[in-house]
Amino acid sequence: MVMVEKAQHLKMKMEHVRFGKEELERRRKSPVHVPAEHVAAQLKEHYHVYIVDPRLGFNQRTFRFWINFRSVGEEMEFSGKQLGHRHTVEAVIYIHQGHGYSVIDGVKYPWEAGDLICVPVFAWHRHHNESSEDLIYFAATTGPFSMATGIALYEEENYPEYWVFAQKGEEAMKTLIPGGAEAPPGGKVELDQTRWKPKGPRSSGVPTAAEIYFDQLNFAQEEEKRRRDSKVVVRAKDLEFSPTPMGRVAYGVDTKLGYHVKVLGTLFAEIPSGKRSGAHRHIYEETNYIISGQGYSIIEDQKCEWKKGDTLVIPVFAWHQHFNTGKETARFLVHTNRPCMESTGYIHTQQGEPADYD
Ligand SMILES: [Fe+2]
Ligand SMILES: [Fe+2]
Repeated sequence: MVMVEKAQHLKMKMEHVRFGKEELERRRKSPVHVPAEHVAAQLKEHYHVYIVDPRLGFNQRTFRFWINFRSVGEEMEFSGKQLGHRHTVEAVIYIHQGHGYSVIDGVKYPWEAGDLICVPVFAWHRHHNESSEDLIYFAATTGPFSMATGIALYEEENYPEYWVFAQKGEEAMKTLIPGGAEAPPGGKVELDQTRWKPKGPRSSGVPTAAEIYFDQLNFAQEEEKRRRDSKVVVRAKDLEFSPTPMGRVAYGVDTKLGYHVKVLGTLFAEIPSGKRSGAHRHIYEETNYIISGQGYSIIEDQKCEWKKGDTLVIPVFAWHQHFNTGKETARFLVHTNRPCMESTGYIHTQQGEPADYD
């Protein structure tokens, strides 16, 4: 039993009271800019470089963002021979340069530069490089969220000693439900659902306790089906940019477009030469990778110059607006945790000055 003294109770209570105010200070101190040169220098040492991660001091809690580099003929990380790997973490991969294919839950998906791949949670997947030039790709994954909630599982083909479920037989390998193939202690009990049926017709739409509980029992199987039915690839050629108060935007991976994500969302934004995005702020995390162009951003009270290859990390609820001062159209790859925050109900977006893109 955990025994806590009065002083500690008071200390813990005051931590809650102070948290919001102190978090503002943590956000203010969090880095907002990662220059391309910093990443390039690290890529000389290692082929897989974390750009944004809470472990690197960023005040971003739910997802990380990193770059991968492969030479011609070099196999990709998590390629594997049969399985590759699977994880209880959402992953969206952006192909910056090169081409190849992924095998996800037994289905082969070719991809090329500009495409996005959205890997369904706990589906086995492996990626293969077929490029005749250097392969460069970026990944955003919800590892930090899954680790903070204690549900992160990474089952890697090359590290079976760390498997939690996959070694338990063929069924455990096939299911997209962690632990889904295991019977409860004492064996699986078949439930006669008629026993819990309401006696007469319900007078209102309010479900019974048994109905709520059976929804819970059935959830994982239905979720597995939703994962298998979801879209996996966003083709660059299918992206359609259209106007919004924030500028010209093309949503890529989004719950509203048939991708089965609960935490991550991915979009592309464009600012023509000499023009600006809108200004807004929102209660969700945002990471912007600059695919092309140059300019500057106002992030709360900071002015930040950027160019192709840089990354901007927008603190939660910080006002931000981007200005293209270069000759070419600026294009941003934008990852957010908007779906996650929508499900918590805390989300709030405020629009300031509208974009100028004409
Ligand atoms: Fe993966
Ligand atoms: Fe934003």
